Amino acid sequence: MKLCVIIPLCALFTLTQQGPPQDQCVCDLTNSEKAFPHAKLSTVEDNASKCNININPKKTLELESLMLGLERRLPQLQEDVSVLERENDSELYGALSLLVIENELTEIKKLIKKLNMTTQGHHRLTTDTNDQLKDLITEMAKLEKYDTLQVVKRKQAHERLKKGLRPTSQPTQPPHGICPHGRFLNITGPRIYTAGEYPGSYMYGAWGRDPKPEVGKENWYWLVMLTSSNIYANYVRLYSSLSSLIVGVSGPGNIEIHSSNPTTNTVQGPNVVLYGGALYYNCYKKYAVCRFNLTTKTATTMQLPEGTRFNSKGNFCNLDACYSYTDLDLATDESGVWVIYTTSQDFGNLVLSKVEEGEPPTLNQTWHTSVFKQGVSNTFMACGVLYATRYVSKEVEEIFYSFDTSTEVEKFNIGIFIKKMSPNIYSLNYSPVDQMLHAYCDSFMVSYKVVFG
Ligand SMILES: *[C@@H]1O[C@H](CO)[C@@H](O)[C@H](O)[C@H]1NC(C)=O
Ligand SMILES: *[C@@H]1O[C@H](CO)[C@@H](O)[C@H](O)[C@H]1NC(C)=O
Ligand SMILES: *[C@@H]1O[C@H](CO)[C@@H](O)[C@H](O)[C@H]1NC(C)=O
Ligand SMILES: *[C@@H]1O[C@H](CO)[C@@H](O)[C@H](O)[C@H]1NC(C)=O
Ligand SMILES: *[C@@H]1O[C@H](CO)[C@@H](O)[C@H](O)[C@H]1NC(C)=O
Ligand SMILES: *[C@@H]1O[C@H](CO)[C@@H](O)[C@H](O)[C@H]1NC(C)=O
Repeated sequence: MKLCVIIPLCALFTLTQQGPPQDQCVCDLTNSEKAFPHAKLSTVEDNASKCNININPKKTLELESLMLGLERRLPQLQEDVSVLERENDSELYGALSLLVIENELTEIKKLIKKLNMTTQGHHRLTTDTNDQLKDLITEMAKLEKYDTLQVVKRKQAHERLKKGLRPTSQPTQPPHGICPHGRFLNITGPRIYTAGEYPGSYMYGAWGRDPKPEVGKENWYWLVMLTSSNIYANYVRLYSSLSSLIVGVSGPGNIEIHSSNPTTNTVQGPNVVLYGGALYYNCYKKYAVCRFNLTTKTATTMQLPEGTRFNSKGNFCNLDACYSYTDLDLATDESGVWVIYTTSQDFGNLVLSKVEEGEPPTLNQTWHTSVFKQGVSNTFMACGVLYATRYVSKEVEEIFYSFDTSTEVEKFNIGIFIKKMSPNIYSLNYSPVDQMLHAYCDSFMVSYKVVFG
């Protein structure tokens, strides 16, 4: 049935790499009409990612972002199609998968449209690529027609779905310190580099993926930009997929904390995280973590110890200057939410506390490190280990320090280098869902893949 239509559609995507000059890579979209290319799709992914590595993103920023969007969407589609195949026994989940696939197709279509616009600007792809894009869009239109014929059937399934659907169980959380992926070895990338929806507009912010998403929001991405005085934010902007974020199309839109900015419970500073459908951040003029529930739109406050540095008095720094209002750094990893800060009694050294999700959220264990916060440019958590970075040059940041909460062992010689796309990383956070590091750098959203082994 519907599968048969989806399958040839995937076969339309073929990315070929054309003998590129050293610092340039041109990707061509060509058309082919073969059977569903499970094997081929992985070659395409390989080729697309090879292509990404070779591209100089500064020159071809938009093109690369779009290619990456496609690169990400294709395996997603492949995966969802195979889920649908496996779930043939259950009408309910089958119907759910169809909805998901339909969403993906819509997004891929948007992506292709944007790609067409971009390539025209770049004058990089040939006119017959344009024709091929046209064919692709015709195929998409046919598919849509088919979809409308299926609407009634699907609506019925959807009704049953609403009655019978239960939230999927959360994966069990590993105790921190024990890493399900092995040891943190290195990082590669950047894998994503995009100016997003507001190119150059907001220098400071954070973005990422909720590690414990609500059902149906598994692929959503979030973005918080400091829209007032480069210090404060009053809303979370949501995207239903990575490609939507790259293309700059926000379906779900904004969720506002308060219409005024700043005011009580406003986000202060860039190092925020979204976890379990709630935003954790340093709240306006308090040495406290606020948790804003995106569903109920209410904020709860969790006080940090007396002596905690706040209001830009305990910041991260690069060689020349400190990053304003980075007193509290919120982080996520496999075990949940953490807060990294410093206090007067710790003489400005980093302090790390586990945040428990309860109502209200509370602080659990706290660890005191011997690394001076002003010698650190940012931190993140992965598998219960705190990692700290320092500024090396405009092009390079180094992960130089780690603190393992399970053994309390500190290391100052990590020596893992991050290739930067802009000089300053204002927020850095690890996503346990896909083992990516998400960075917000001078208005660009950049991400890296963590290599475990
Ligand atoms: C991938 O690239 C290789 C060589 O770089 C090429 O031979 C192959 O046809 C490409 N595959 C696809 C599906 O584009
Ligand atoms: C799905 O299940 C039906 C009946 O259980 C069976 O006839 C059909 O072949 C199955 N389809 C696939 C793709 O496995
Ligand atoms: C690409 O855009 C141009 C100009 O807007 C349009 O004429 C052309 O049909 C488009 N191609 C596709 C495949 O949409
Ligand atoms: C880490 O990755 C970088 C870039 O991929 C590479 O140059 C470097 O040699 C790697 N380091 C280690 C220790 O594997
Ligand atoms: C947000 O509020 C809803 C409704 O009260 C609740 O079910 C959910 O657990 C809350 N989320 C968080 C992260 O506290
Ligand atoms: C604090 O952490 C310990 C160890 O992870 C855990 O067993 C305990 O339940 C936590 N306490 C609270 C209040 O969540």
